Amino acid sequence: MAEIIGGVGTSHVPSIGIAIDKGLTETPDWKPFFDGYIPGKQWMADKKPDIAVVVFNDHGNTFFLDRVPTFAVGVAESYKPVDEGWGPRAVPDFQGATDLSWHFVDKLVENHFDPLVCREIEVDHGLQVPMELFFGRPEDWPVKVVPIWVNTIQYPIPTPQRCWEMGKVLREAIESFPTDEKVVVMGTGGLSHQLQGSRAGFLNREADEAWLDGIANDFEKYRDMSREDYVEQFGSEGAELIMWLVMRAAMNPKVELKHRHYYAPASMTGAGMVVLENA
Ligand code: DHB
Ligand code: FE
Repeated sequence: MAEIIGGVGTSHVPSIGIAIDKGLTETPDWKPFFDGYIPGKQWMADKKPDIAVVVFNDHGNTFFLDRVPTFAVGVAESYKPVDEGWGPRAVPDFQGATDLSWHFVDKLVENHFDPLVCREIEVDHGLQVPMELFFGRPEDWPVKVVPIWVNTIQYPIPTPQRCWEMGKVLREAIESFPTDEKVVVMGTGGLSHQLQGSRAGFLNREADEAWLDGIANDFEKYRDMSREDYVEQFGSEGAELIMWLVMRAAMNPKVELKHRHYYAPASMTGAGMVVLENA
């Protein structure tokens, strides 16, 4: 059966990708941010997963407000990086782990989830940037992907508890998938930020640091928080953190926090990373 070799959580701020495009990773502004990812990147290179399940949200790039699925799963053979308005990026297409995607969709429906199933779709920075942070800029990606979209854009967004339940189904799907492939689960988004309204620019370093410490082995409080709690503590866009719960729920109750990094602000966002292994 396929095996979950670890879970990672990471921010997915678009300007991180642009910094890579423009060769700015060694500048004083960006170096401390990118340096913090070196151990995570090394961990990934050592573990050599075959498949990355990437949990992210679209930002009005492939879904717009006219049609917003609460949960969607990609079952395509490949996914192009969507042009978000600043021109095409030198990011290779992502090959789909099609069979695992369908198996996951099947398990979701069996467990009373109703995902949108996408045979043809592009992926925005929510997936691109985490892949670049952990795999660099290869000619071809060393992993196939299973993209999972979670609506964190248009209210009502799903509850943290529902994201948690989805993570449990994801685990069941991976562990019943009849190959010996190694799978890494990536939860993306956050940390604290608010890009709109009267609190635009809101950052909460204290809450971010507590999240990075707690998501490993003190996750219950985050699983049990309300959506309003997320918005209050982390900002309206910081509520993207509910997507890390899908990753965390796919792991054992006890995990080892292998790597952790925090840097703020990256653009308008508290940016962070964790690498978790099952204890
Ligand atoms: C920013 C952060 C995000 O998570 C995002 O999706 C878009 C923009 C930002 O801070 O600029
Ligand atoms: Fe985002």
